[in-house]
Amino acid sequence: MKYKELIDKMTLEEKASLMSGKDFWQTQEIGHLGINNIFLADGPHGIRKQAAAADHLGLNASIPATCFPTAAAVANSWNEALGEKVGKYLGEEAVSQKVNVLLGPGVNMKRNPLCGRNFEYFSEDPYLAGKMAAGYIRGIQSNGISACVKHFCVNNQEERRMAIDTIVDERTLREIYLTAFEIAVKEGNTKSVMSSYNMLNGTYTNENKFLMQQILREEWGYNGCVITDWGGSNDRIEGLLAGNELEMPTTAGETNQYIIQAIKNGIIKEEVLDTCVDRLLNLIFSTEETFKTPIEDFDSEMHHKVAQEVAEESIVLLKNNDNILPLRHGMKVAVIGDFAKEARYQGAGSSIVNPTSLDNTLDCIKSFGIETIGFEVGYNRYGKRSSSMISKACALAKKAEAVLLYIGLDEVSEVEGLDRQNMKLPKNQIELLNALYQVNPNIVVVLSCGSVIEMPWITKVKGLVHAYLSGQAGAKAILRILTGEVNPSGKLAETYPICYEDTSSCHNFPGKEVSVEYREALFIGYRYFDTAKVDVLFPFGYGLSYTTFEYSDLQVTKDAVTFKLTNTGKHAGMEISQLYVGCNSKEIFRANKELKGFAKTLVNPGETKTVTILFDDKTFRYFNIKSKRWEIETADYQIMIGASSIDIKLTDNIYIEGTNAPLPYDKERLPSYFSGKAENVSASEFESLLGYKAPKTTWDRKKPLGYNDTIAQCQYAKGAFARFAYHVLVFAYWFLKKIGKRKIANIIMMSVYHQPFRGIARLTGGIMNMPMLDGVLMIVNGHFFKGLRHVFSERKKMLRAGMR
Ligand code: BGC
Repeated sequence: MKYKELIDKMTLEEKASLMSGKDFWQTQEIGHLGINNIFLADGPHGIRKQAAAADHLGLNASIPATCFPTAAAVANSWNEALGEKVGKYLGEEAVSQKVNVLLGPGVNMKRNPLCGRNFEYFSEDPYLAGKMAAGYIRGIQSNGISACVKHFCVNNQEERRMAIDTIVDERTLREIYLTAFEIAVKEGNTKSVMSSYNMLNGTYTNENKFLMQQILREEWGYNGCVITDWGGSNDRIEGLLAGNELEMPTTAGETNQYIIQAIKNGIIKEEVLDTCVDRLLNLIFSTEETFKTPIEDFDSEMHHKVAQEVAEESIVLLKNNDNILPLRHGMKVAVIGDFAKEARYQGAGSSIVNPTSLDNTLDCIKSFGIETIGFEVGYNRYGKRSSSMISKACALAKKAEAVLLYIGLDEVSEVEGLDRQNMKLPKNQIELLNALYQVNPNIVVVLSCGSVIEMPWITKVKGLVHAYLSGQAGAKAILRILTGEVNPSGKLAETYPICYEDTSSCHNFPGKEVSVEYREALFIGYRYFDTAKVDVLFPFGYGLSYTTFEYSDLQVTKDAVTFKLTNTGKHAGMEISQLYVGCNSKEIFRANKELKGFAKTLVNPGETKTVTILFDDKTFRYFNIKSKRWEIETADYQIMIGASSIDIKLTDNIYIEGTNAPLPYDKERLPSYFSGKAENVSASEFESLLGYKAPKTTWDRKKPLGYNDTIAQCQYAKGAFARFAYHVLVFAYWFLKKIGKRKIANIIMMSVYHQPFRGIARLTGGIMNMPMLDGVLMIVNGHFFKGLRHVFSERKKMLRAGMR
């Protein structure tokens, strides 16, 4: 232990006091021992430090900070160094706002396009997500503070996120859902990790010793801190035993008392607590160093400029028929769409940033050498139809040489705590597009959304620029791409399926009651589409440029690939070349190809560059469930260099001598996995993969409700009062949506409807404790008066004990 001497001076009570927050955002201090509190704040694409009222829902404003493009956007840059740059600037702002731990980046996999938080995550591919995250972490931590990679792990749906049990086989867990975290830990050296809200195969991740001890600590050698997601602690003792150093936010000392009692009763050894205290002290002392030198205010104008540069590298050009882009100098354009007036630039929830400034297209466009003949809103941002808006937009479009149409998803449809209902654009926007097409076919769509949408309207547009959620300086960045000041170089970090029903997890998403089964196993994203031969709209790794590239001369050695890349067009440009590896294994099922490396190269017109991509420990590995280790199969491997996952430019083979591990699978029993057509796997085949019987997915409606059941489950509670409350809640949600108050309606779903009962105690900062919650549960389970009496008497006890 690094701080043994100091820990020896601490009383049991003092040590336990460090194990949960002092308030919503800070840790506890122990003044006489020189242990200060530290501040934790979101978030992944901009600092959200709340100076006054605190919440984790995105409700109360925070101190202004630069809003960078969200992770879903920056991932399209395929540029780790750019990730590091974002991290560096985020970290600088964190320091200037006295934040010690920055709660990000989020590296959960995009298992399904409807996950409400996909805008905050990087990719459907763990290698790309891990590399980008490692870049962010290095950048953030270069300022002396800590990043906090989240949400560890398999938190891939927002519905019932605090209670859902994710059922996933170990190979899929390792290869798909843990690899990005592994890279973040080993290559990013993150100083803290946030455990997720959900369970993993029957145990809350925060208490899951297999995950937290065996994998994170022993296999990956992680020695930093584990912090719970806000309100995510279930059993504090189990959490501590699994190695959870810090429970957030405060529980007003209630759960610290549990630790003290458990030690006094001999349930856990004091050394367990000491180890956790030691790691937490390391986080505190190592991150406060940086604040000892005078803190300077960050240069907000310069940071705004950086946010713009980051956006420029992250925007993806998806279509460019007749070379409608870049727009010609002096071209007469009609600007249409509410998002041109008020940019759609970030998502909602705990990541929401109060930007230092916000660019909008209408102001910025004046300096771009194109002639704007007018602007029309075109549609109502929140979906209400308006034929007069459409007619006005058409009247303007008629007079233009080209139409710049700004559309996308609004800010209340991509939000933490709620999954999207479908993958469609609002109907009123599609109606507008159809109408515009009738009067002017030269349409360039600028799309702003943080996640995948269907595009049945794609044939009606000539140009399509996908800006994702491009941060506070996105508007200018988009214009620079549209006008050719910047040559687009982004490529998609996720697949765009033709329709939602084409995705492999659509039959098992979201889990609605007890659990969610990852029946498609490792066949998510391009791994599925490519192997099962399902056509897609835009493949993983796809993106256009204003120039063209030619690939040649592939050389494969045991350690690396090299090839030549020539810019055959007229503009300088950056090309993202992707290394995929395939293995024609008969005995171990695999995706056709998997991303194992990438390189981004700037090439001038006519120039040829030699590109090298190194192999690493992940290039040929797979996880063997018999040997319980990473192994390499002896086989011929295809080495593929692609401009996207389906546009393979160069291929070769390499024979690799493997590790001769026992064959892990009974092929006969896993036909869907061996064919890759894993979209409709039966329960019995999934169980063959799991190796055990999957738990029941539905609620046992006869059982009384307990701590980990959610408020939504009051629908079948024994207590009439609870059932009534449930109906009031559902009505309130419906009503608020109906009158257009979608933001408040969403907050009800996120913070009340999907809240487990224990959350009432965990998130109220000590206003209610667990014994009081027992009374609430009595009420819910049909003992109204007894429960009410219990609540009051426990409240009195709590006040007498001086805990509140
Ligand atoms: C989110 C985390 C966030 C935390 C603190 C939680 O609801 O899941 O991502 O860091 O709140 O705001």
